[in-house]
Amino acid sequence: MDVQVAVLDYGSQYSQLIVRRVRELGYYAKLFAPESLQDLPKMSGIILSGGPRSVTDEDAPDVDFEYLKSLGVPVLGVCYGMQLLNQKFGGNLKPGTTSEYGPATLKVEDDSTLFADVKPDSQIWMSHSDTVAKLPEGAKVLARNEEGQPVSLEFCENWYGIQFHPEVTHSHDGRSVLRNYLNRLDAPPEFDVEAFKQQLLKEIVEEVGDREVVCGVSGGVDSTVLAVLLHKAGVKIHPIFVDTGLLRKDEAKEVQDQFAEVGVEIDTVYAGEQFLKALEGEEDPETKRKIIGNLFLDVFFEHAGNIQLFAQGTLYPDVIESATSGSIASRIKTHHNRVDRIMELKEEGRVLEPLAELFKDEVRALGRSMDIPERALNRHPFPGPGLAVRCPGAVTHEKIAILQEADDIFISTLRKHDWYDKIWQACTTILPSRSVGVKGDVRAYEYPITLRAVISEDAMTADWVEIPFPVLREISNRILNGVKGVNRVLYDISTKPPASIEWE
Ligand code: XMP
Repeated sequence: MDVQVAVLDYGSQYSQLIVRRVRELGYYAKLFAPESLQDLPKMSGIILSGGPRSVTDEDAPDVDFEYLKSLGVPVLGVCYGMQLLNQKFGGNLKPGTTSEYGPATLKVEDDSTLFADVKPDSQIWMSHSDTVAKLPEGAKVLARNEEGQPVSLEFCENWYGIQFHPEVTHSHDGRSVLRNYLNRLDAPPEFDVEAFKQQLLKEIVEEVGDREVVCGVSGGVDSTVLAVLLHKAGVKIHPIFVDTGLLRKDEAKEVQDQFAEVGVEIDTVYAGEQFLKALEGEEDPETKRKIIGNLFLDVFFEHAGNIQLFAQGTLYPDVIESATSGSIASRIKTHHNRVDRIMELKEEGRVLEPLAELFKDEVRALGRSMDIPERALNRHPFPGPGLAVRCPGAVTHEKIAILQEADDIFISTLRKHDWYDKIWQACTTILPSRSVGVKGDVRAYEYPITLRAVISEDAMTADWVEIPFPVLREISNRILNGVKGVNRVLYDISTKPPASIEWE
């Protein structure tokens, strides 16, 4: 499937979101560095993203305007992109003395098709400081904000600029604006998961040949979709599941059942005792992570033996390097710090990353199209180091057992009350210091448990969830009565930032 829309990335925090929205509207879009414009294959549309700079800066990121014009395709400049086009067409801008961030009102003043289906006074989301001062010759103002400043221009036929961010949901009709732009493209929408899957299956077969593919599975969405995709492609696979002993209650069995349901046999390696031993007495969070990451790789690679081909579920956001650095090189983001072994395999051309073009929600859709059960696709994220990061201080058998029981109660009660799917991630943490309590007329000196449930889009920021008190009460009662060693249950009402999602 050929890329249809290039989004030139000028470094906006929302660049990826433009790509997602365009794909949601059925066009296959990808991010590219502005300098790579001349090297791109034929595109049906080009979008210039926003960015943190001002086009008046001396070394402001640029665009090869003559080349862009020679392509003869509809162009849309968003925020910085609009200012850049304005300048290229001969207009100029005034650097804003104050910045405009947040909501504004869209006043459409032209019956341009770019604003078809946009409601009057629709809310738009701004994040910029420059404003248009002089319009280029022949340019038309399509819309203004309530102060009368232009927020959308048509420079000439099929060349548009919008000052606001159509890609964020706070721009209420942003999706319509993007769709209207895409309607100008001389190409039908071609991107859908089924077509993408067929292409992936074909590419996997071609790339793998008769080699065996080793992959790690954790039961999480990405590795599950990856393993099932490889299985569907009909290539030889060896999916390895390392049970670190730091998993949730019955998780190993659930993961095995989950794969059995979709016909994939996984190879489970139990290494719980090894992990606990390696962690013994260690209290520093980063050292704990290192120990777990290294041991995980040791166990995995030792068990895998000689690897012909290694597959991993790297996603598109993981391979996008910041465009402001100039290159959009492939990069693997991982919490494991000894990635050298994977990098070595990569250099030898022995790493397969079939999901590297996809966003998380697209991976879920791919999973759905392969009949992976919803329960598996909607699982909350779970950190690689497992319950060890939910056990501040030294990890012990006893604490892991307490955590497993408390977490099981928390999660199952959320499911029972239909809260699980409304929550992005729910976690239980056992605190290191004990507190005094009374159990059956006897003084009890036991551990406190904290519950945390957050909503988030990408784990970068998170807000705590207002779980109804009766549900919290039920969870608390069940933990206090059912989990030995716990005499206090706390609910964590901290946003991220400043708190992180996990306690360590
Ligand atoms: P924090 O705690 O940084 O978590 O707000 C953000 C997201 O990342 C997960 N997380 C990890 N995942 N290895 C992982 O694979 C780790 O070391 C790790 N630390 C945090 C966390 O569960 C949340 O989803």
